[in-house]
Amino acid sequence: MKKAVITAVGHYVPDNIIPNSYFESRIETTDEWIRTRTGIQERRFAPDGMATSDMSVLAIEDCLKMRGLDKNEIDFIVVATVTPDHVFPATACLIQDKLGMKHPRIWGYDISAACSGFLFALETARRLVESGGSQKAIVVGADKMTAIVDPEDRATCIIFGDGAGAVLIEASDDDSVGIMDASLHVDGSGFQHLHMKAGGSAMPATHETVDKRLHYAYQEGQHVFKSAVKSMADATMDVMQRNNLTGSDVAWLVPHQANLRIIEATANRMELDKERVMINIQRYGNTTAGTIPICLSEWQKAGKIQYGDNMILAAFGGGFTYGSAYLKWGIK
Ligand code: COA
Repeated sequence: MKKAVITAVGHYVPDNIIPNSYFESRIETTDEWIRTRTGIQERRFAPDGMATSDMSVLAIEDCLKMRGLDKNEIDFIVVATVTPDHVFPATACLIQDKLGMKHPRIWGYDISAACSGFLFALETARRLVESGGSQKAIVVGADKMTAIVDPEDRATCIIFGDGAGAVLIEASDDDSVGIMDASLHVDGSGFQHLHMKAGGSAMPATHETVDKRLHYAYQEGQHVFKSAVKSMADATMDVMQRNNLTGSDVAWLVPHQANLRIIEATANRMELDKERVMINIQRYGNTTAGTIPICLSEWQKAGKIQYGDNMILAAFGGGFTYGSAYLKWGIK
């Protein structure tokens, strides 16, 4: 069996920086409240007309540039997003067309697993690459959250931002690095606490659903917070125990950037110093499926990750979905 190795990373965040002060004149909030409750100082908003596929294309181009790889060598593309350009077709199709990828066997699709989406997509691509079904796969995590966040919902609109990250996964005969393991879960009983009420087959769009603001993300923050703290830490400990890892074996925790307090709770459970946790929530907020690949790309470019580093990726999101992955870094 082949090993699936991340061999390049890339990301894109919009230029438009939105500081916490932006919200002070629009909703009842303060910079101080947002910083202390979430750790967020600013986030990026994509301009009108820029869709999730457009951000993804820029992230993929950044990723392929790192590897010096021709786009036509990609044979599989999986996109994790809850903000697809359209209900159908899949954003993967639009990305393939916009990039002009011409591999004779390229195929792909979208995965809907909210903030855990990147981990779920990564595991899907890993299995495909390991089994020989793909030689070079692109995994994208991208969301334009401003498309589905209610600007009048003060507990939600301050959290989210827009952004995209992408990784290239290649098949390798060297099994000393690569994606080693993953522990992924769904718990649909969490649906009620985090979802979008209208726009799907359960409640198709009508004038009334628009008037009632039902096409925005609905969130019960406290419940989501508590579930995220427990589930992310449980999944992380599970994958560490299965692979006989302790905190001191882990070079980097790469957590989904939902709330600084959730990140800190996960790191504490792993007995990991903050210096070994990738944290950029203060600059980007929660970009949903984008958070983990954006972190990987930024840290790689800053030269902070060493070849062979043990890394634990962890996420929690709507569904509920949650999980963690263990990988040995394979970029020199
Ligand atoms: N500014 C000021 N006050 C606000 C506010 C804001 N932006 N948003 C909410 N509040 C108020 C609430 O209305 C509430 O007021 P009340 O006590 O008068 O009712 C008070 O702050 C406390 O609300 P609470 O929900 O208990 O705050 P919190 O400490 O849990 O923080 C979240 C709210 C949303 C930041 C936090 O629950 C969270 O991060 N949850 C997880 C969300 C998440 O990660 N979602 C993505 C899925 S991965």
